[in-house]
Amino acid sequence: MKVIVVKDKKAMGKKGAELIAADMKKKDRPYVLGLATGSTPEPVYAAWVSMCKKGQIDFSTVITFNLDEYVGLKPTHDQSYRYFMNDKLFNHVNINKKNTFVPDGMARDIETSCAAYEAKIDACGGIDYQVLGIGSNGHIAFNEPGSSLGSRTRKVKLTANTIKDNSRFFKSMKDVPKSAITMGIGTVLDAENIVLFATGANKVKAVADAIEGPITASCPASALQTHPNVTFILTKDAATGLKLMHQS
Ligand code: PGA
Repeated sequence: MKVIVVKDKKAMGKKGAELIAADMKKKDRPYVLGLATGSTPEPVYAAWVSMCKKGQIDFSTVITFNLDEYVGLKPTHDQSYRYFMNDKLFNHVNINKKNTFVPDGMARDIETSCAAYEAKIDACGGIDYQVLGIGSNGHIAFNEPGSSLGSRTRKVKLTANTIKDNSRFFKSMKDVPKSAITMGIGTVLDAENIVLFATGANKVKAVADAIEGPITASCPASALQTHPNVTFILTKDAATGLKLMHQS
C-alpha cells in the first residue's frame, strides 16, 4: 500500500492524473478505467481535460466503468452520475461515449442489469485502474458500512450519513435518492490497480481507519489493505490521523 500526501487538491489531481496516464501509456490495447463521482475526483478529471488538450493523453480507445448511480434518476438529471461524468470529463476529452458505462439507475430489472454490468467488465478484460473516493463513514462507491467485503454489483440502501453528506448537491434532503446501484467491494478489488483520493478534515477518521485500522465491514475501505496495488493520494488535511510509516 502506497500513501502519498500532497499539499492541496490541485496537486492531488495532477499526481493522480499522471499516475494513471503513465499506466495507460504502458498498455498497447484498449485501456479500462474505473471511475468515481463526488467532489473528490474532480481535480483529477480537470487535469486529464487539460492534458488531453495538450495531446498528453489519449482517450480514443479507453473504456470506462463508473462505480455507481442513484436509483430513479434519469441520465439527463443534473445530479445523476452519468450527467456528472459527461459534464466533468467525457464532454471534454476524445473519448467515444459508446465506450463509457454507468450502472443503469432506471433499469426495470435491476438484478439482471447488475449481472450484465459485471459481465461487461469481464468481457472488456477487467479494470486496469480504479479511481475511488471515500465517504466520511468509510464507504467506497456506495458500499456502506456492513457491506460484505466480497460483494458484487447490486442495489443498496444509502445510510442516513450518506444521504446527509450528499444533500449538499440537492435542493433538500428529501430530494436525495435513498438507494443506488453500486459495484461491490469484491468488484473493486478485482481491478489490477486502485487509487483512492481523499481530501478535507471530515475524512480524517475514515482515512485512518481504512489505512491503519482492522480490516472490517464497518469500514469498507479497509478491504483495500488486502489489495497488492493500491495507492492513497491524500491532501495534508485528510492525512492528519495517520500514525504509521507506510511502505508499499
Ligand atoms: P465526495 O464523496 O468526493 O463528494 O466527498 C466521496 C464518496 O462518498 O465516495
